[in-house]
Amino acid sequence: MTKSVTTMDAITALTQRVSVARLQAPAPTDDQLETLFAAALRAPDHMMLRPWRFIVIREDRREALGELYAKAALTEQPDLSPDAIDRFKGLPLRAPMLVAIVCSVTEHPKVPEIEQVLSTGAAVHGLLTAAHAMKIGAMWRTGSIGYSLVVAEGLGLKESEKLLGFVYLGTPVGKAKPVPELFAQDFVSAF
Ligand SMILES: Cc1cc2nc3c(=O)[nH]c(=O)nc-3n(C[C@H](O)[C@H](O)[C@H](O)COP(=O)(O)O)c2cc1C
Repeated sequence: MTKSVTTMDAITALTQRVSVARLQAPAPTDDQLETLFAAALRAPDHMMLRPWRFIVIREDRREALGELYAKAALTEQPDLSPDAIDRFKGLPLRAPMLVAIVCSVTEHPKVPEIEQVLSTGAAVHGLLTAAHAMKIGAMWRTGSIGYSLVVAEGLGLKESEKLLGFVYLGTPVGKAKPVPELFAQDFVSAF
């Protein structure tokens, strides 16, 4: 049983979820975070490999992540201007908390890597949807250096692990963006 109570019903959360780009303090509380991860952990998971891992980057560690971003960017583009370097350093400051999404891929005869990555993606969707239901702003971002080995190594990932980006979390700033109008008939056909 999780500690936080949400008031939004599941179908509303699933059909109305939107990402929130502009986020401010406060970050989710420890209790809220526990609920977000509980939602993530209910992702479908072939052979119960639990292929996901999450690394929480709290407010006081965002600058260290920014340094890693800058180091990664400089590895790819050694002639970056000081302004551009500062922009990379500032990227994690866009939210009071970030969660790095890691897929820990295991060799398995029945579960190829793609299924483990998909399962991790489903876990992130659970986390994002729970955040929406709890009125916590959230956005999944990779950015231009999101797949950099420098960032992965700096976060302590093993060679078999894949960094799948970061969920930025916080309190939404301003009004929520409208839910895009999409029609199932445009994506669904009969066999
Ligand atoms: C794996 C992944 C990585 C993403 N990376 C970025 C990113 O770096 N920057 C960005 O603006 N949006 C990124 N997005 C998209 C946003 O998270 C978001 O889904 C998109 O803006 C659409 O908004 P919505 O979720 O409200 O429909 C990414 C989405 C996924 C699934």
